[in-house]
Amino acid sequence: DRKIKIAPSILSADFADFGREIRAIEAQGADWVHVDVMDGHFVPNLTFGPAMCKAIRPHIRTIMDVHLMIAPVDPWIEAFADAGADIITAHLEAGPHVHRTLQAIKATGKKAGLALNPGTPAEAAAELLDMVDLVCVMTVNPGFGGQKFIHSQIAKIERLRAMIGDRPVHIEIDGGITAETAPLVARAGADVLVAGSGVFSGGSVQNPEIYGRNIAAI
Ligand code: DX5
Ligand code: ZN
Repeated sequence: DRKIKIAPSILSADFADFGREIRAIEAQGADWVHVDVMDGHFVPNLTFGPAMCKAIRPHIRTIMDVHLMIAPVDPWIEAFADAGADIITAHLEAGPHVHRTLQAIKATGKKAGLALNPGTPAEAAAELLDMVDLVCVMTVNPGFGGQKFIHSQIAKIERLRAMIGDRPVHIEIDGGITAETAPLVARAGADVLVAGSGVFSGGSVQNPEIYGRNIAAI
């Protein structure tokens, strides 16, 4: 029986008031705070960089989970570590040397995550599972909040869970998580659920049912 963690994504929060939004989600039971960093190159959207992460860090009492949707990644790792990230996740598709990127993240002393786009098979992570703390399965194409969950990823989560075996590696699911899809991914083997628009809507915390009993009971 795995305890499911909820990691609200502040991508769907009120950008003018992250402090208040973070307090609200933590009061509702958020386990981690998920921060989506986008560069307008690896993904077709721009969000924020290390300075913003550093500014919000004092407002986070839990874990700052930084999802880097940027390429190249390596030149930025130190800056996000210095900004106070607890977990730094890089995409397998962001460059030819993801092994080196994961080594560089581990060298900062932070936890290392590996994210897989929907088109990347679970098997692509096989040689990396001994060096990561987390695998993030994207259940939407990265770039935007509020997209539709891609159901073909459920079988991939099951395969990944089997591949991980008894290693202490989290499976985080990112994209399209709602009260309906959360139990599906939890049953398939996920233990950390990112939720953006499922938690925030219209720039405030409106959907506390994402923390509901149907997820917690799995
Ligand atoms: C997408 C981001 C997600 C996003 C999820 O590129 O990585 O973290 O915020 O948003 P929802 O939960 O609305 O799909
Ligand atoms: Zn994300």
